[in-house]
Amino acid sequence: MMRSIAVSCLISASTLLMFSGASLANSGESVYKQVCASCHTPGVAGAPKLGDKAKWAALIKEGQVQITAHGYVGVRGMPAKGGKPDLGVSDFAASVVYMANQSGANWKNPDDAMLRKIDAEIQRRQTQLRK
Ligand code: HEC
Repeated sequence: MMRSIAVSCLISASTLLMFSGASLANSGESVYKQVCASCHTPGVAGAPKLGDKAKWAALIKEGQVQITAHGYVGVRGMPAKGGKPDLGVSDFAASVVYMANQSGANWKNPDDAMLRKIDAEIQRRQTQLRK
C-alpha cells in the first residue's frame, strides 16, 4: 500500500518534470499576449516592438541574461515585471524569449543555471538602483 503511493508520487513528479519544459515553451507567448503586448506590439513609449529586428538587434547583442534581468527590474518606460507584480522570473524570461525569437534571436527558455545568473543580475541591478 505505502509502496504504491510512493510509486505513484514518483510517477506524477516525473510527469510534471516532463511537461514543465513544454508548458514553459507555450507560456512565453501567452504571457506576452496577456502582459506585454499592450506596449510591445504598438511600441508604446519607445518599447522595442515585437518583430522590429533593427531595434532588437542591439538588445539581442546585450544578451539574454542582461535584458531579461533589466526588464524584470524595470528600465525607464518599462515597468518592473511588465507591470504585473506577481509575474515570476521564469514566466517573464519565457516571454522575453518569445519576443526576441520573433525579432531575430534564437534563444531558449533559460535553464536553472541561466535563471541563477538572471537572479544574480536582478539583485545587482536592484542594489544599484537603490543607491
Ligand atoms: C507599460 C508598457 C510596457 C509593458 C506592459 C511592457 N513593457 Fe517592456 N518595455 C517598455 C518600454 C517603454 C521599454 C523601453 C525601455 C527603454 O529602454 O527606455 C521596454 C523594454 C523592454 C525590454 C528591454 C530591456 C532593456 O534592457 O533595455 C525587455 C526585455 C522588455 N521590455 C520585456 C517586456 C516583457 C517580457 C513584458 C511583459 C511581461 C513587457 N516588457 C511589458 C514598455 C513596456
